[in-house]
Amino acid sequence: MGFRIAVAGATGNVGREIVQVLDERRFPVDDLVALASERSAGTMISFGEHDIRVQDLAGFDFAGIDLVLSATATEVATEHMPRAAKAGAVVVDHSDAFRMEPDVPLVVPEVNGAALARFAKRRIVASPSAMATICALALKPLHDLAGLRRAVVTAMESVSGAGKPAMDELFAQTRAVYVNQPIEREEFPKQIAFNLIPHVDAFMQDGFTREEWRLQAEARKLLGPDIRMVATCVRAPVFVGHAASVVAEFEREIDEQAARRAWRGWLGGEAVGLVDHRVDEGYVTPVEVVGEDKVYVSRVRRDPTSATGLAFWCVGDNLRKGAALNVVQIAELLAQEHLGRG
Ligand SMILES: NC(=O)c1ccc[n+]([C@@H]2O[C@H](COP(=O)([O-])OP(=O)(O)OC[C@H]3O[C@@H](n4cnc5c(N)ncnc54)[C@H](OP(=O)(O)O)[C@@H]3O)[C@@H](O)[C@H]2O)c1
Repeated sequence: MGFRIAVAGATGNVGREIVQVLDERRFPVDDLVALASERSAGTMISFGEHDIRVQDLAGFDFAGIDLVLSATATEVATEHMPRAAKAGAVVVDHSDAFRMEPDVPLVVPEVNGAALARFAKRRIVASPSAMATICALALKPLHDLAGLRRAVVTAMESVSGAGKPAMDELFAQTRAVYVNQPIEREEFPKQIAFNLIPHVDAFMQDGFTREEWRLQAEARKLLGPDIRMVATCVRAPVFVGHAASVVAEFEREIDEQAARRAWRGWLGGEAVGLVDHRVDEGYVTPVEVVGEDKVYVSRVRRDPTSATGLAFWCVGDNLRKGAALNVVQIAELLAQEHLGRG
């Protein structure tokens, strides 16, 4: 027997990818319901060979739904996901509505799959921000080997991380530059085409942005509370693919060769790929990871300023492993280990 699944935010960047990944991975779906705002109600989305009519999330009754995979805005998730859980569904939510709540597990299956066992109290599981997932995957094998103490992260985040309208804005501005028309801005605080913006999400009192705070806090929830991280998040004029420069310090000495072995040997190379040749093209860039499930690590080198430091570059598809794939992998683990099916 399969599952009755509702995808909330099914018309968005992440939601559309969730529907595709469910089909690709042959998740046991008996029935799939697509939910979005009233603006999209009545439009159609494809699930494999089926066309599914989108319904309005606000008026949807979750009774009889087993699993809700949700990728909507924080306020929308805050309003509707507890309602879904109360109706008996288990929710896997990709917004930041519940990520830091102590009784909601925040899960990347390869990093802390055991945390999923705590889903039962709220019936909600949170999936981390794309950048936190990518960094946690790259850091986990090194953390297991040498004990991660501190990381300085400069994140370069693609516009798809800000949703569909943000992708349209990069496209429109790029075109406007070429045809010498005025640049119009709505989604980003400054011009994004041919530029870099060191400002992702709102500023907080201490000068960090919410995205930086999220990355730091989520990394601790995923990897361990003693880890210290300081992040700078920059929006880059890239459609899909988030990257980061990471400088990490460990409790024990770790050399480049040991780090390479740790990455290569971790989970049979399924989750992290190492591409690190010190020649032209010997590293991975965002456009090359589009559609890829793995996170890639390149540019590995000793940090000459620290006896236990290592610097590297990591990159992943923010819509796949950074979002939709992680949500579906959480659902697979729930199905196999906790819901007795799948
Ligand atoms: N993209 C990424 O890399 C990424 C990474 C990490 C986290 N996230 C998070 O994932 C969530 C979704 O992101 P996204 O990039 O997929 O956004 P998106 O492309 O803008 O899609 C948003 C989805 O939410 C729906 N929605 C908006 N307002 C709604 C309402 N009032 N009621 C019901 N549904 C509503 C939209 O439906 P309509 O089409 O009807 O408007 C659409 O299906 C966000 O919380 C985002 O922060 C995204």
